[in-house]
Amino acid sequence: MKNDLYELTRRRRSVRRYGNAHIDDELIREIMKVALTAPTSFGHKPVEFVVVRDKGMIRKIGACKQMGGSQINGADAVIVVMVKTADKRQAEFWIEDGAIASAYILLAVEQYGLGACWVHIRNRIGQRGTSDQEIRALLGVPEGYTVLNLVAIGEKAEEKMAYTDIDLHTENVHYGKY
Ligand SMILES: Cc1cc2nc3c(=O)[nH]c(=O)nc-3n(C[C@H](O)[C@H](O)[C@H](O)COP(=O)(O)O)c2cc1C
Repeated sequence: MKNDLYELTRRRRSVRRYGNAHIDDELIREIMKVALTAPTSFGHKPVEFVVVRDKGMIRKIGACKQMGGSQINGADAVIVVMVKTADKRQAEFWIEDGAIASAYILLAVEQYGLGACWVHIRNRIGQRGTSDQEIRALLGVPEGYTVLNLVAIGEKAEEKMAYTDIDLHTENVHYGKY
């Protein structure tokens, strides 16, 4: 059966090494349009993004995560995914809201044949405080937001096999009863 979305999702793999190709701002805007269609709890739309293109700033953001942050250094763009957590009503599902938007970004990136990787920030530590605090300070994010993760994007510089039907954990899906 035709399954265009599966054709896309099976090709999406975490890409952590990037080439030097510059991604057009226009293409990044198209990717972000996809992110903005992601569902959010109660339709509150509490997820916001900072698109970072400046190489120096990308390095500084990477340094905000003590272990593994430097993996974003070669990325051409880094999307900082943050959620408005000040309002308790909107904050209940903040992780879910941010995660779904991030997944949309990962798929949108694959659609354009580029590579991307989720880089975790929640509960991670930086140089002096939490990674979240340090990234918000760097980017001038106002109080009331929490950074969930980054999505590093760039030209693919590593080959990853697309998933096939054989790779799927079909045993994880239960029909009708466990
Ligand atoms: C919640 C979450 C956190 C992740 N954190 C990181 C991370 O900090 N660094 C990283 O390189 N990859 C991270 N990843 C990517 C996973 O390691 C990756 O998706 C997994 O190994 C499966 O590989 P695939 O994406 O190629 O299918 C994360 C993925 C998720 C969903």
